[in-house]
Amino acid sequence: MDIFQIQGGTPLNGAVRVSGAKNAALPIMAAALLADGPVEIVGVPRLRDINTFCTLLSRMGATVGWLPAVDGGRETLRIDGTTLTRPEATYDLVKTMRASVLVLGPLLARHGSARISMPGGCAIGARPIDQHLKGLEALGAISALAEGYIEAAVGRLKGATIRFDLCTVTGTENLLMAAVLAEGTTHLKNCAREPEVVDLARMLRAMGADIEGEGTDDIVVRGVDSLHGCRYEVMADRIEAGTLLLAGAITGGDVLAEGADARVLDALLEKMSESGADVSVVPGGVRVRRSGSIRSVNVKTAPHPGFPTDMQAQFMAYMCLGDGFSLVNETIFENRFMHVAELRRMGAKIEVSGSTAAVTGVPKLSGAPLMATDLRASASLVLAGLAAAGRTEVLRIYHLDRGYEKLEDKLSALGARISRVQE
Ligand code: EPZ
Repeated sequence: MDIFQIQGGTPLNGAVRVSGAKNAALPIMAAALLADGPVEIVGVPRLRDINTFCTLLSRMGATVGWLPAVDGGRETLRIDGTTLTRPEATYDLVKTMRASVLVLGPLLARHGSARISMPGGCAIGARPIDQHLKGLEALGAISALAEGYIEAAVGRLKGATIRFDLCTVTGTENLLMAAVLAEGTTHLKNCAREPEVVDLARMLRAMGADIEGEGTDDIVVRGVDSLHGCRYEVMADRIEAGTLLLAGAITGGDVLAEGADARVLDALLEKMSESGADVSVVPGGVRVRRSGSIRSVNVKTAPHPGFPTDMQAQFMAYMCLGDGFSLVNETIFENRFMHVAELRRMGAKIEVSGSTAAVTGVPKLSGAPLMATDLRASASLVLAGLAAAGRTEVLRIYHLDRGYEKLEDKLSALGARISRVQE
């Protein structure tokens, strides 16, 4: 298994290009199953989760392949769902990536049946899919749980009004993909407003779907009889962008994230400004500089447009070097503090009580061997290692490879002393 070796203490400076968004690419890849022809998706990042999803689609019989980048541009992933033969997502894949559940809506909408392994819990929480199933049943699907698999079937989905009991990103995405081919109109209420939901809706519209209200909590979908293929470019990854900008701030550097869209990062950027970092929106990206002390600030995660839970661990690492006292309140997932024990091993002062971590800033962190436990916790440990005095090793980097494309290359290009070695 791979390890990151980091020699900390170097301010990061320079410009770095942000990759395409993992959490937009995954539902967009699933949506390709809805089309009567091939879909070409530009800017899909080369990540473990993307590879897993490609394997899942291929096993179902879809035709999946990467087209070479033209004149130095971005790669294109081509998916043709019309060759699909097996509407099934098996446990061996679903257990490694919960987002596999995103094929449920498209399979029911396009093929009228699906057999999907029930995703188990994961490191950060139980993460049930009751809202997905409730919505699909409201559209007329019948589902049963047998031997750990959800078996669902329907003649043709019929439009309905569905109110989510809570804000769910992939739940909203699954129901959006189911509704676009349903008979009649579907009204989705209490929807997730995440930018990745908006990106999916835009791609579905490019395929001929009739959708209104994406980005709000109230979406209306008028079902159509078929959808055609399209070519669509995925949005930039706002979480990778935020992570790279925090790498600049935590090391006292000056980083320009090229392709970052400040409009989908404002909750994070506001907190970075509050902490004393100099945040500026420049043509084509966002720039962050930090030279003075880090002011400790409080953060509370919330559904978009609130502070993103996927930035909580990274921001906590930053607050470990604050000048005072910071409360970090995680409201989305019940077990998303696994980076705390590892940060403490570097000298961080963090006390956890329920869903809140109290961080008392220290003058410096010391490098140490650390264990990654989940995707964003891994990023948190890398940021802490970049700022710490001395050498840090982050083990089990495969967690990080799920959601960050060539992170060590991007950080090295900014002056970080980081390398990937085989354990
Ligand atoms: C998406 O997960 C993202 N993943 C997550 O990113 C992100 O952390 C999360 O949204 C919240 O923003 C993808 O988009 C692939 P939820 P998702 O359904 O959709 C509960 C990363 O690091 N819930 O919005 O699975 C759930 O347990 C990953 O890139 C139910 O109770 O999250 C959680 O507490 C991690 N029943 C809360 O809602 C349901 O049916 C939000 O979950 C669905 C969700």
